[in-house]
Amino acid sequence: MSSITIFGAGNIGSAVAGIAVKSGAYVQVIDRNADKAAAAADGATGAKFGEASVSGDIVVLALPFSAYEEVLVSYADQIAGKTVVDVSNPIDFTTFDLALPEGARSAAEYLAGKLPQSKVVKAFNTTFASTLATGVNDGAPTVVQLASDDEDAKNDVKAFIEAAGLRTVDAGALKRARYLEGYGALQIILGVTEQTPWTGGFKVVR
Ligand SMILES: NC(=O)c1ccc[n+]([C@@H]2O[C@H](COP(=O)([O-])OP(=O)(O)OC[C@H]3O[C@@H](n4cnc5c(N)ncnc54)[C@H](OP(=O)(O)O)[C@@H]3O)[C@@H](O)[C@H]2O)c1
Repeated sequence: MSSITIFGAGNIGSAVAGIAVKSGAYVQVIDRNADKAAAAADGATGAKFGEASVSGDIVVLALPFSAYEEVLVSYADQIAGKTVVDVSNPIDFTTFDLALPEGARSAAEYLAGKLPQSKVVKAFNTTFASTLATGVNDGAPTVVQLASDDEDAKNDVKAFIEAAGLRTVDAGALKRARYLEGYGALQIILGVTEQTPWTGGFKVVR
């Protein structure tokens, strides 16, 4: 049985926690608000950020990219060597441009640079939370796009997503996160300008 720790009990954290529980994994959710963490998904265990120890072999950062630094400060030692999933769309919401640290090509590559012993996987950033929570996008299983330089880590993430009834496609190496993050940003722009619904977005047909 796999074990998955999710940082963040917001829209994506709760949706991914639901997927992880449905996959049959042991699921821990860590949030600054322990009650919110405990309520993220039926069957998940909640814990308080800064106090909890990471129990999962797969760690999902379901936080704003700007909050990653706090995880790195408090938990870098604990997540070293684990599979770490970056869900972020690092957007400046005043301009809708990508907002990355100086020199970074993508949030995922930046994170990998900060966690050299971990196996970073980009996932979940090209699907709105509602289509993750329901597992359905426009009548078909929601398709999660993945990228990573570590095939085993990518397969572990793929396995829990597909065990919950969603589908995946493999975008390739972690550097493809640059495209996935542009795709995620465009999807948000279309949502904010009300050209596409938050319950839909891009649909990958397999
Ligand atoms: N929403 C979507 O449809 C969607 C789609 C694709 C990707 N994403 C990405 O998913 C990530 C989360 O988005 P979301 O929509 O789930 O956001 P959200 O609903 O606002 O939830 C954010 C979560 O992050 C926590 N958090 C915020 N700042 C923190 C900090 N400084 N330290 C620790 N925890 C902090 C919040 O904790 P508190 O409860 O304590 O405030 C909350 O649990 C973002 O990177 C976003 O780009 C979102």
